[in-house]
Amino acid sequence: MNRINSSKLYEKSKRLMPGGVSSPVRAFTPHPTFMERASGSRLYDVNGNEMIDYCMGFGPLILGHSHPRVVNALKEQLSNGSLFGSPTELEVQLAERVSNYFPSMEMMRFVSSGTEATMHAIRLARGFTGKKLIIKMIGGFHGAHDGVLVKAGSGATTHSAPDSAGVPEEAAANTLLVQYNDIDSVKSFLAANKDQVAAVIVEPVLGNIGPVLPDDNYLRDLREITSKHDALLIFDEVITGFRLAMGGAQSRFGVEADITTLGKVLGGGLPIGAFGARTEIMEKVSPIGPVYQAGTFAGNPISMTAGIVTLDELERVGHDELERKGEMMRSLLTDLLKKHNLPYQVAGIGSMFQIFMTDHPVRDHKDAMTCDAKKFMKLFHALQDRGVYIPPSQYETCFISTAHSDEDIRLTVDIYDEALEAVH
Ligand SMILES: Cc1ncc(COP(=O)(O)O)c(C=O)c1O
Repeated sequence: MNRINSSKLYEKSKRLMPGGVSSPVRAFTPHPTFMERASGSRLYDVNGNEMIDYCMGFGPLILGHSHPRVVNALKEQLSNGSLFGSPTELEVQLAERVSNYFPSMEMMRFVSSGTEATMHAIRLARGFTGKKLIIKMIGGFHGAHDGVLVKAGSGATTHSAPDSAGVPEEAAANTLLVQYNDIDSVKSFLAANKDQVAAVIVEPVLGNIGPVLPDDNYLRDLREITSKHDALLIFDEVITGFRLAMGGAQSRFGVEADITTLGKVLGGGLPIGAFGARTEIMEKVSPIGPVYQAGTFAGNPISMTAGIVTLDELERVGHDELERKGEMMRSLLTDLLKKHNLPYQVAGIGSMFQIFMTDHPVRDHKDAMTCDAKKFMKLFHALQDRGVYIPPSQYETCFISTAHSDEDIRLTVDIYDEALEAVH
């Protein structure tokens, strides 16, 4: 495949932006792929190549690229104003919808990214409980702020910076680390740090070292043990919210969080985040409470519009087809691995999937670290060369949208077939 225009743009961009990118997860060698446009399940790069996309903007685009309903609603809203610095009815409408789907979010605040959502959620947990420590999963990713850039997943793991330079030791020391699916470690930390833990923050399904599912009862046990110790349970549903079900992982697994963070799908492809909880907790947020949060673009009418229309459309089409397509993809990939006699793991849930290049089933970060991440990048390139674009890392999740057809999935699996052959 021709990549000459990407290579030329990279020569310029690497002088202007570290790694030539605005977010490290987009970088890979020899250079990232610069995109020009997208539609439905397809991405078109600046080199004239068409690809079936499973990166989907790292998860937000559950309706595919440029869904006509979203595009039309945005055009109309843009001509009516993009930012007022005042509240709008759109925020009320979206908040009502979110609250109906997430009963644990009686009140919420909209922000502009998942990073902001978790940053404020943690501050709120501390402000509400008067405690300082948080417990976080190794390999869990909650955005790029100090308290959670400790053994973080996603690009932080891909680019070998799970503990970022520049995070003061004092900040990192307030974050206690446990392996996902290890309830005993959470129990012992809570017991050893009595009355000091403000919250346990967890992606209910890990998404940032690839998709890793909770063991039976793990989330229920987290719920029980945090309540017992008066620590808050924060579900970071930035990926899982509206992706695994309209009510996110909470409704799918039947466990309610104290504080929930949302992002990605909620904004229908535009920048968004939200954090919410029961009224008693949210009333601690400024201006009615002492926990400060603010944002020029928070709740802007453009993101609100994209969110409302996306939820409307998702409600209309439902999640059954997304589930079916996810299962179809996972089962065809499983057959393919058998055919190639490869011991790898096909993982995922709903419309999330990934191949872990390891012979270990993956239950936590330690297991994920047994993957051959270098070979995975060879697979990534072999797929891209043949017209399938997935996130450029073993430690990310692939996403299916409502725009992906059965034919797209069959074609993708044929391309995986060739790509696996090419890299082994
Ligand atoms: C679970 C989770 N939380 C938070 C974030 C941060 O969101 P954002 O990139 O919108 O700041 C991400 C981003 O990938 C995420 O996957």
